[in-house]
Amino acid sequence: MKKTTKDLIDIQEDSMKIEHEETIEMNGLIPLGMPELNDMEWIADMKSQFSQTMDPILRMYNAAMNETTARFEIIKDEFKFRRQRCPIHHIDTRLKSANSILGKLQKKDLDLTLSSACNNIYDIAGVRVVCPYVKDVYLVRDRIEAQDDIHIMEEKDYVATPKRNGYRSLHIIIRIPVYFMNKKQLVPVELQIRTLAMDLWASLEHDIKYKSFNQDYPIDFTSKLYECSKLIYQAESDMEKINNLLED
Ligand code: GTP
Ligand code: MG
Repeated sequence: MKKTTKDLIDIQEDSMKIEHEETIEMNGLIPLGMPELNDMEWIADMKSQFSQTMDPILRMYNAAMNETTARFEIIKDEFKFRRQRCPIHHIDTRLKSANSILGKLQKKDLDLTLSSACNNIYDIAGVRVVCPYVKDVYLVRDRIEAQDDIHIMEEKDYVATPKRNGYRSLHIIIRIPVYFMNKKQLVPVELQIRTLAMDLWASLEHDIKYKSFNQDYPIDFTSKLYECSKLIYQAESDMEKINNLLED
C-alpha cells in the first residue's frame, strides 16, 4: 500500500523539549522510514513535510545563531571602545536549510526524523568569525570559551593540523543557552574561527570544488591546492610578524 506522509510523520510543535543538557528529545514524533528508491513522488512529498515540520526547530537554531553572534559583537565593541586593534575582522552566519539537513541525514544513513537531526547534526547553526592574524584566532577562542554559560562539545584545530588539501580553520561546536518564553534550551552552534587568508583559500577552494563536480572527469587538485595554501600562509605569517614588531 502506498504510504502517505500523514502516515509517516505526525508532530506537534509543542511536543519538543529538552530532557537534559546533552539530548534534544522530541515526543510525539513518528520516525520516517527510508524511501523506496524509485518512489520519487513519495520523496518530494516527504521533503515538503520535513521542511514544514523543521520550521519551529530552525527558529530555535536561528535564535542560537543570533545569540552567539551577539557574544562576538560585544567582544568586537569592547576592543573598539578601548581603541585597540580588533581581533575580529567580520562575522558570517548561515542557517542550514531543511533540505540540506535532510540530505545530510540521508548521507550519514541516519533516521529521517527531527530528533535525529537535532541530536546528530551540530552545524545547523553556523557562525564564522574571520580574524586578521593567527594569534587572533586563539585570542577569540579563549574569550568565547571563558564565558561560563557556553558549553564546549568538540574542538577540531585544523590551524595547528591542516587538512591534506591545505584547509585551515579552528572548528568548535558549542552549546549556547537560548531563553524562550518559559524555558531555556542549550542549542548547538558550529563556530569556525579563521584568518582572512584561511577564508580566502577556503572560499576559492570551495568554488573550485563546486565547479569540478560539474565536470565529467573529476581532476584531483589536492596537491596543487596545498601548494597554493603554502604560498598564502607564508604571506600571512610574514605580515603577522610585521604586526608583531609594531604591537610589541
Ligand atoms: P560533518 O560535520 O559531518 O560535515 O563532518 P566533519 O565534522 O568531519 O566536518 P569538518 O569539521 O571537517 O568540516 C565542517 C565544515 O568545515 C564544512 O562544512 C565546511 O564548511 C568546512 N570545511 C571542512 N573542510 C573543508 C575544506 O576542505 N574546504 C573548505 N572550503 N571548507 C571545508
Ligand atoms: Mg562537523
